[in-house]
Amino acid sequence: MSDNQIDFTDRVVVVTGGGNGLGKCYAMEFAKRGAKVVVNDLGGTGTGAGADQIVAQKVVSEIQAMGGTAVANSDSVLEGDKVVQTALDAFGRVDAVVNNAGFLRDGSFHKMTEADWDLVLKVHLYGSFAVTRAAWPYMRDQGFGRVVMTASGAGIYGNFGQANYAAAKLGLHGLAQTLAHEGRAKGILVNTIAPVAASRLTSTVMPPEVLEGLKPEYVSPLVLLLCSENHTETGQLFEVGGGWIARIRWQQSNGARFDSDEGFSAEELSARWDEVQNFDSAQTPSDISSTLQAVGENIGVKIGVAPQ
Ligand code: NAI
Repeated sequence: MSDNQIDFTDRVVVVTGGGNGLGKCYAMEFAKRGAKVVVNDLGGTGTGAGADQIVAQKVVSEIQAMGGTAVANSDSVLEGDKVVQTALDAFGRVDAVVNNAGFLRDGSFHKMTEADWDLVLKVHLYGSFAVTRAAWPYMRDQGFGRVVMTASGAGIYGNFGQANYAAAKLGLHGLAQTLAHEGRAKGILVNTIAPVAASRLTSTVMPPEVLEGLKPEYVSPLVLLLCSENHTETGQLFEVGGGWIARIRWQQSNGARFDSDEGFSAEELSARWDEVQNFDSAQTPSDISSTLQAVGENIGVKIGVAPQ
């Protein structure tokens, strides 16, 4: 076994939305490396209609057929306590949660119904909250935990017709960054991925030759790495697909500084707009202290951050 061998023997991994697409791939790959896997899937359609217990069970059967260990859970991720209880009942612990379940209800903003907004926010943002929140105390107690959130390029950059989805997906990165701070001292790492992969969600919007190059197997290595014992980084965001993996981070422009005693007008700001837009010596802040430091310097006061 090489030094950086990734092995999940005795680890319990919950994969939400593990019945199809990316989640199914993760569940299989975790099981191949010895994990005991909870395959959660409600089994509905790509727009979140209906439910079918067979969907999760089929993946469990496939894992068992290759000699792996898995149990099915067919609850909605909104019932996160039930999903995590399945892990506790079957395996007695929970080491990693991969929040992956979700569906789309696309439509331009002026036509978007409140139901489409609610359902998409619920499954992605509230669902990831519910499952992670249920697992969190157990991870804290054992001093080990790994959480992966699933964002999307639509959340990072915006995408026409996906206001609900984009809001939920970038919300997940915000959640992950805060949980990264709160979990670090307890050995819990929380990272976010924005994948691109062939699945029923993308099969209608991408041609077959593109889908051929977007195998879920090109995303799963990152998810396995982020959930492994070997990994130490937290609060990070990655784009991943087609064999390409990159980290995304925030960049802060040079910024314009005005005298805070004298104040300044919108016109004065307009005259120095190029400074706000100038990234020549950009900063890449990784926590809120750096912003507070810049603000504090400008008003001549040291601003502390809230106790951790
Ligand atoms: P998929 O539709 O193949 O799989 C999603 C699974 O989630 C389905 O099996 C579905 O039954 C399950 N699910 C839906 N609602 C659920 C609920 N309330 N409780 C439990 N399970 C539920 O989709 P795909 O493409 O594999 O997507 C996985 C994740 O990756 C999603 O969060 C998606 O938004 C995200 N994503 C996918 C991209 C892609 O290119 N495929 C792009 C960006 C993000």
